[in-house]
Amino acid sequence: MMIPRIAPNRYGIPTLYVKDQPFLILGGEIHNSSSSSPAYMEEHVWPALRSLPLNTVIAPVYWETLEPEEGHFDFSLMDSLLSQAGREGKKLILLWFGLWKNGESMYAPSWIKENPGRYFRACYSPENPSDTVSPLCTDAIEADANAFARFMAHLRETDKEENTVIMVQVENESGFLGAQRDYSEQARTAYCSPVPPSMKEYAGIAIENKDSWYPLFKEDAPELFMTFHYCLAIQKIAHAGKTEYPLPLNVNAWLEQFPEIPGSYPCGGPIAKYMDLWKKLVPSIDMLSPDVYLSDFKGVCDAYSAGGNPLFIPEARRDPVTASNVFYAFGQYYALGFSPFGIEDMLPSAAAPGELPSPDAAVMAALQIDMSAFSSTGTGCYLQRSYEILSGMTGLLTEHRGSGKLHAFLRKNEHDKGIILSLPRTDVKLTYTGGRPDMPGSAGFLIEDGDFGFYITGCNFRIEVLAKKGSEKKVSLLRLEEGIFTGNRFCPGRILNGDERMRASIGPMAGVLRFEVCLY
Ligand code: DGJ
Repeated sequence: MMIPRIAPNRYGIPTLYVKDQPFLILGGEIHNSSSSSPAYMEEHVWPALRSLPLNTVIAPVYWETLEPEEGHFDFSLMDSLLSQAGREGKKLILLWFGLWKNGESMYAPSWIKENPGRYFRACYSPENPSDTVSPLCTDAIEADANAFARFMAHLRETDKEENTVIMVQVENESGFLGAQRDYSEQARTAYCSPVPPSMKEYAGIAIENKDSWYPLFKEDAPELFMTFHYCLAIQKIAHAGKTEYPLPLNVNAWLEQFPEIPGSYPCGGPIAKYMDLWKKLVPSIDMLSPDVYLSDFKGVCDAYSAGGNPLFIPEARRDPVTASNVFYAFGQYYALGFSPFGIEDMLPSAAAPGELPSPDAAVMAALQIDMSAFSSTGTGCYLQRSYEILSGMTGLLTEHRGSGKLHAFLRKNEHDKGIILSLPRTDVKLTYTGGRPDMPGSAGFLIEDGDFGFYITGCNFRIEVLAKKGSEKKVSLLRLEEGIFTGNRFCPGRILNGDERMRASIGPMAGVLRFEVCLY
């Protein structure tokens, strides 16, 4: 049996295989500090997750606890996490909180932080150091790569058979916050030196050219310079880990957003416009993953599924729209996985009274996250249903990725009234309903089941069947059933006829309908 891997399915769609079976990550990322205490996980996290039908938990592993002293490794936290997840029947995606987490170096061990001479910081301006280790600091990168390699080797030794861990993320939202580039002495020297050959090759510049960054790239120079150096660093770290244990690896992105000034978001990270540079310089990474807190879900997914990049969303918004977006991610982009952030307090029952999540406005502002993306009231119940449906139909869904028989839809804005899906023998008109911000949006997908049968799932739409344009034949709804998938089998519930057939629809709580049409 092979270890988890990404390979094309029979239609050429990149697919994650776990124990040689296609696997859809119905995930949730836990809060940053939760996995630093096995007791906290037992008391607050696992009980909360039991009522959500997710199959994968995304959890950090911290360099500062893994290598508290240089060269001394402590895998006990990681081992507890793996054994708890195994007991709970969940897969894990581990986040390597190494040198960089959200543009800073807060998870580097103290022996790195306390030795700024050797492990030098990036500077906001000459002589004005930040708290972020510079991506040009080769000693720090080597130390991180060494720790990451030990971490991956430990996974190989302990988890190669079980495959509890199915993927690893290298660093978290890398880049430099607070300035357009690093002004440390080493970075200033490199910035004024000839641009390295691999960068010139990427930019289509003659190899003999000896210009430095600014003359060649003008106003884009600072960000390209930082991107180049973060890419080299992360390639070194990822390669060291992958050599030990070749699990799928991803890198996640804090997205470029207003005011679109590098440094207001971490400068040098895998933002959409530099994905091709990342792909070229970081071949050990299997995918670049967006953390989607912005409201333009489609725009972000379009960008991060371009050029064959498999879409995996490690952090999704926490408001109810997440429960409808998940259908579009899997149906439209053949996403490998989807995972709202802060999953352990999504269901109100998970929090003790008075402990309901109250995101701190200052933290959200620092992270450029709109408060609306964090208002999770109601999300848990909606998400519970969406995940239940998707986990029940994983087989059908994975079988149809790329087959041409899977059709997804998403309401783009309040002016978007609906969509007509053009199918071989009939058209299906979907009119969007709902539209309240405290509920899921309109989204879902339809799967053709033979010539005249269809499964449709998602939230907030009404269905009507229409004759195909120009056809002599009329079309009629022959049968409409509600139901649920369990173990990839549709278990029908009521047959909807009479009044119920006239308002064939799914509301804010996701559902599944099967319908058949006849032509006459
Ligand atoms: C994005 C980061 O990647 C997460 O670790 C977390 O900090 C969230 N933002 C916000 O809580």
